[in-house]
Amino acid sequence: MRTQVAIIGAGPSGLMLGRLLEQAGVDAVIIERKSPDYVLGRIRAGVLEQGAMDLLDAAGVGERMHAEGLIHRGVDLAFDGDMLNINFEKLIGKHVMVYGQTEVTRDLMDARRQTGALTIYDADDVAIHDFDGTAPRVTYRKDGVTHTLDCDVIAGCDGFHGVCRASVPENSVTSFERVYPFGWLGVLVDQPPVAEELIYAHHERGFALCSMRSNTRSRYYVQVPSDEKVENWSDDRFWDELRARLNPATAAVLKTGASIEKSVAPLRSFVAEPLRFGSLFLAGDAAHIVPPTGAKGLNLAMSDVKVLAEAFIERFVEGSMAGTDGYSAKVLQRIWKAERFSWWMTSLLHTFPETGNFGRRIQRAEFDYLAGSLAAQQSLAENYVGLP
Ligand code: FAD
Ligand code: DHB
Repeated sequence: MRTQVAIIGAGPSGLMLGRLLEQAGVDAVIIERKSPDYVLGRIRAGVLEQGAMDLLDAAGVGERMHAEGLIHRGVDLAFDGDMLNINFEKLIGKHVMVYGQTEVTRDLMDARRQTGALTIYDADDVAIHDFDGTAPRVTYRKDGVTHTLDCDVIAGCDGFHGVCRASVPENSVTSFERVYPFGWLGVLVDQPPVAEELIYAHHERGFALCSMRSNTRSRYYVQVPSDEKVENWSDDRFWDELRARLNPATAAVLKTGASIEKSVAPLRSFVAEPLRFGSLFLAGDAAHIVPPTGAKGLNLAMSDVKVLAEAFIERFVEGSMAGTDGYSAKVLQRIWKAERFSWWMTSLLHTFPETGNFGRRIQRAEFDYLAGSLAAQQSLAENYVGLP
């Protein structure tokens, strides 16, 4: 089998890249190690920046997002019960959209099915070869048979634990990493959200986030130690802990119920440099990880593949290498800004036992500064809704 672009991974990065290339007439095949149901069952991000919304529209898959997504004009920050509303619309005239990653994935998968574009699911032992030359290959096993896909370039859209970045010789890539000593325990519940907008709460017991997927489905998170086992958390224990971290007025109106999903996600900041190795290009979580505070992971993945799609289209339709040559440097600029913002939001809102009472006073001062400074609020708003 032969294609122009072999895309490894059918998460949001791989699917969006596939869609953009298909629209431009560039041939691409996606190879994914899991099943479609498994991919759709992963509950992850929930907030889209304007750039991601625009990209869904440009890809012709924005219709359901506009019909079912919720426009959010701001977020609430809470610090030991004191509330601060950050109104994006007033501060910078922009907003974000609450629309789950599972829905984005479903829309892209449906579009792919409709056009008959090829996605190979349940592919075992995916391996990439000869990407330092001009004739790279991908091999994989499916139903016990080994297959080879010849291609011109490989797009590594296979997430943090994927095979693409791991296949690059160690001395060709530099990793920048910070692993946080905590994770987020998340619960999905079929109950109306506790408030109209998201609440990011700092509390001495730890961070909490009140989010949502729709007017009838809510998503809540609490900070837990990174080795915490989800089995230790009954629904009742989760709701008690969440209420303890919210201000009393909010806690009083929280609607609880049986969880329909519960999982722990570790928190990490990570960037690989560069993001191009001969004919291999990394995008999305394969290239970088942000801690989820600030909702940047999915949005960053979308902005990477927008640039990568343009670069591949330039190469295969217009015959120019400029886009692929400039890809890594171009996206890394935006990546580092999102890394900075996610690190900052994480630092402000979580408890860090090792920084002691000095650290808590600094966090409080940061919150008070935000509360009193329109410039600081504007900076938060500008980063949250997404930098250009
Ligand atoms: P992924 O979604 O990871 O997709 C990669 C795909 O590649 C997967 O389908 C995987 O099965 C496939 N794959 C992996 N290895 C191979 C292989 N060897 N061969 C073939 N296929 C392979 N972001 C937020 O903004 N908010 C959140 O609340 C949030 N929660 C998260 C919770 C978890 C547990 C995780 C892991 C991430 C979370 N994120 C969150 C981040 C966000 O979901 C990611 O940034 C986003 O999924 C990145 O998309 P991607 O397509 O690059 O990677
Ligand atoms: C959600 C996740 C985030 O990381 C975030 O910052 C906001 C919302 C969510 O899953 O809904």
